[in-house]
Amino acid sequence: MTVLPIRITGDPVLHRVADPVLAFDEELARLVDDMFETMEAAPGVGLAAPQIGLAKRLFVYDWTDAEGVRTRGVAANPELWISPPPVGVPDDDEEEGCLSIPGERFALKRAERALLKAQDVTGEHYELEASGWLARILQHEFDHLNGILYADRLDAFGTKGVQKAIKRNKWGVEGLSWMPGVDNLED
Ligand code: NI
Repeated sequence: MTVLPIRITGDPVLHRVADPVLAFDEELARLVDDMFETMEAAPGVGLAAPQIGLAKRLFVYDWTDAEGVRTRGVAANPELWISPPPVGVPDDDEEEGCLSIPGERFALKRAERALLKAQDVTGEHYELEASGWLARILQHEFDHLNGILYADRLDAFGTKGVQKAIKRNKWGVEGLSWMPGVDNLED
């Protein structure tokens, strides 16, 4: 398995609609292994294929909730239904991060519940009902497949913050990436 570099906001692959996964073969299985390893090294709780430079409708997730229940999986060609997103000013405990905007966190309201329908690494269809932070992860990763970063969903205050971070880090251009386990991204 291989840890892969993670693309940073501004790279075109992060801002386009990804293409369906067509082949559920050994190559896909290897890719998924690499994505899990990359996510674990980052570390993160979700990683979408565009973040490693592949415009494919594919993401991985790994979340352990407060009760210790672990949900780990692969979603290829996902569909996602969500409960109505709440309105209002997000709280600090709704701060979200993204490995493609490394070291930054901004608060964002998300739907409390989500229903994922997707294919696993073998092409088998499955459904996953999620609430709370797992629902948030699914919404975040699903967005990646449509070229949407959580930064695109922030309110005016958050948008200002993320724009500052992009400027400060000289992000927002093509071809930037960072290497989990190698680059130190603590701010
Ligand atoms: Ni992300």
